[in-house]
Amino acid sequence: MDTILLKGKPVRDAVFAELKVKVAQAPRKPGLAVVLVGDDPASAVYVSHKEKGCEEVGFHHVTHRLPADTPEGNVLDLVGQLNADPAIDGILVQLPMPRKINQEKVLGAVDPAKDVDGFHPVNLGLLVAGNPRFVPCTPKGILRLLSYYDISMAGKNVAVVGRSVIVGRPLSLLLSLKREDANATVTMCHSGTRDLAAITSAADVVIAAIGVPRALGTNEIGKGAVVVDVGINRIDAPERPKGTRLVGDVDADALKGHVAALTPVPGGVGPMTIAMLLENTWEAMAGKEGLDENG
Ligand code: GUN
Repeated sequence: MDTILLKGKPVRDAVFAELKVKVAQAPRKPGLAVVLVGDDPASAVYVSHKEKGCEEVGFHHVTHRLPADTPEGNVLDLVGQLNADPAIDGILVQLPMPRKINQEKVLGAVDPAKDVDGFHPVNLGLLVAGNPRFVPCTPKGILRLLSYYDISMAGKNVAVVGRSVIVGRPLSLLLSLKREDANATVTMCHSGTRDLAAITSAADVVIAAIGVPRALGTNEIGKGAVVVDVGINRIDAPERPKGTRLVGDVDADALKGHVAALTPVPGGVGPMTIAMLLENTWEAMAGKEGLDENG
């Protein structure tokens, strides 16, 4: 079986092109503020990609880099200032935060109207209610990617593996909504799931978001399935000049020829997350300025 690679780049490029046109016609630039606490190397890479994305589409952006030992109160003060700043439409608090900081408290302090990550309880609640405002970027990006490649979720059995607040849980909710790009039958699997392989191997679509390198292979995924790999794991690769390489949560080499479609790592879901962050920031500004959705 030929396996179609669901590349994110063309979809991301289309979203960026649309945003550039809208920004050129807008009364002002949308503004995104990123709060990065600590020195997690993966977070530093993600944040630099977000900054580059803002540059490319012409958004105003600021990144606040704070040391790992910053007191929680200072982070909350900064969020308060950003909430009050009229040039800032979207606020992203990069996760994970250092352990000493209460992540829920910080996410809950973001003005829900600027919560472009969709992690505030109000926005998560609206998603549960079936009336989402800001949808978390990776779940939104996965739906957009599947739509672009004309892969319908309607009526499909989808196994979502992983229940994180960033991906698995909001994605499960989103996929179950009664709307054109979703309407799936969703099974949420996690570390407490008994006989994971029995569920995933029977699914039409498997979405892997567990952060374990190459955990799912041909025993866990059925022939002809559609596979979305959300994992970005760095593993040792002595044969590479850098000594490491990125792999996903599925064994892509084993699945090529076995499944109908697969998102590559890197270059699959990753570019979509950034595109959706910028789109959400645009929507935050458009909402504030009373623009219609096309600007
Ligand atoms: N860390 C990993 N992915 C994400 C994301 O989408 N948003 C935030 N804020 N932090 C992350």
